[in-house]
Amino acid sequence: MDVLLGAQWGDEGKGKVVDVIAADYQVIARFQGGPNAGHTLWIDGRKHVLHTIPSGVFRPETTNLVGNGVVIDPIIFLKEFEAIRDLAPDIHDRLLISRRAHLILPTHRLLDAASEAEKGDERIGSTLKGIGPTYMDKTGRNGLRVGDLERSDLMDRFRSLVKKHYRLLGLYGTQELTKEAEQEWLEAVRKLRELKLVDSEHVLENAFRAGRRVLAEGAQGTLLDIDFGTYPYVTSSNTVCAGACTGLGVPPTRIGRVIGIFKAYSTRVGSGPFPTELHDEVGERIRRSGNEFGSTTGRPRRCGWLDLPALRYAVMINGITELALMKSDVLSGLGQVGLCTAYEIGGQRTDHVPFDISDAHPVLEELPGWGELSTSGPLPDALERYIHRIEETVQVPVRIVSIGPERDQTLERSSALKEA
Ligand code: GDP
Ligand code: IMO
Ligand code: MG
Repeated sequence: MDVLLGAQWGDEGKGKVVDVIAADYQVIARFQGGPNAGHTLWIDGRKHVLHTIPSGVFRPETTNLVGNGVVIDPIIFLKEFEAIRDLAPDIHDRLLISRRAHLILPTHRLLDAASEAEKGDERIGSTLKGIGPTYMDKTGRNGLRVGDLERSDLMDRFRSLVKKHYRLLGLYGTQELTKEAEQEWLEAVRKLRELKLVDSEHVLENAFRAGRRVLAEGAQGTLLDIDFGTYPYVTSSNTVCAGACTGLGVPPTRIGRVIGIFKAYSTRVGSGPFPTELHDEVGERIRRSGNEFGSTTGRPRRCGWLDLPALRYAVMINGITELALMKSDVLSGLGQVGLCTAYEIGGQRTDHVPFDISDAHPVLEELPGWGELSTSGPLPDALERYIHRIEETVQVPVRIVSIGPERDQTLERSSALKEA
């Protein structure tokens, strides 16, 4: 099994690369996160944003699996399912859902909002999809799972969890659900039950035995990981490579290539430390030309230069064997491009990511910028130099260079570096 994941703070362009390389795989499997993710695919000039459904769905030969590590909002899931039916008419047969995946209840969303409101200025900047409270119920051993939909006592379990949520919401002074909201959710789970619910760890084991190629699709990014990200400004799951093992029930010995996706610059949506953030017109220009507005929430993304200590950290934590450089076209036309090679923290210089980077100042190197990019010619020398500098620092080859959102705006690159 190969793993593809984000090496920054999310929105690196994972969806695009999964869609491009899915042709080489028979199974695409999401392993964590939920509708907080927004993976954008452009196919023949049409934009599709996937939240929970894996990004292989538009490749008719692939099976797409929603793994046990994912949290599912039935309402959002069904909307997404209906929205892609015209382009993927056989989706019903190619979409499998793990019985062990946890369900997001409408009260989880209310708890997410109440918790964020209470935090005030300290808020995480959550997508308010109920992700944190759902994973809390998972680890607290209170959660409802997809497999529970097949049980006769589903309604009792649902009522008992909602009752617990109401007690918590009472502490926050938040209103209870309307009857309509509850009905909408129950209607959605009835429909979800009609889809293909499976014991996905066995499905994957059988796929491996049959020699089928599996790609695990990450969501969010390494620096949003619950353990290794910029805690507490993170999501509530393990977004790193190890999460593919626990989120799919696949042993680490099955993992082959680990493909790290990163942008030619950095972005972050929501709160938390961001050492290379640009507060000037260059940042504004990157936001505009990169259309850096959230795929899920529409919020403007914070923009800054590429952060090599953070990228090297992502390579280390995930065991990344190769990299895909995205959105290099967005920096086209800048005279100089900044690159952060180290941090200065409390007067000390370091090229590692320590426990706390909230006071890290970037040590920047300036490299010459490049002009317009095209799929027909070689990469401009200045961009090649930029890529060499990255490779030299992180010691992993950049194998893919993406120069636009469409499938065919993707170049394969041969690197002087051998794979890690
Ligand atoms: P994901 O969450 O990692 O899948 O990334 P998102 O879909 O949230 O954000 C990436 C955005 O960049 C989407 O709007 C993509 O269509 C777009 N995109 C991906 N690759 C490229 C690229 O190489 N150049 C440009 N200009 N846009 C890209
Ligand atoms: P994809 O898969 C970018 C961020 C939120 C917030 C923090 C916690 O599209 O790359 P949560 O709703 O998970 O409790 O929010 O994590 N976040 C993302 N940022 N891309 C994502 O997903 C994200 N998923 C969550 O903005 O700062
Ligand atoms: Mg996204």
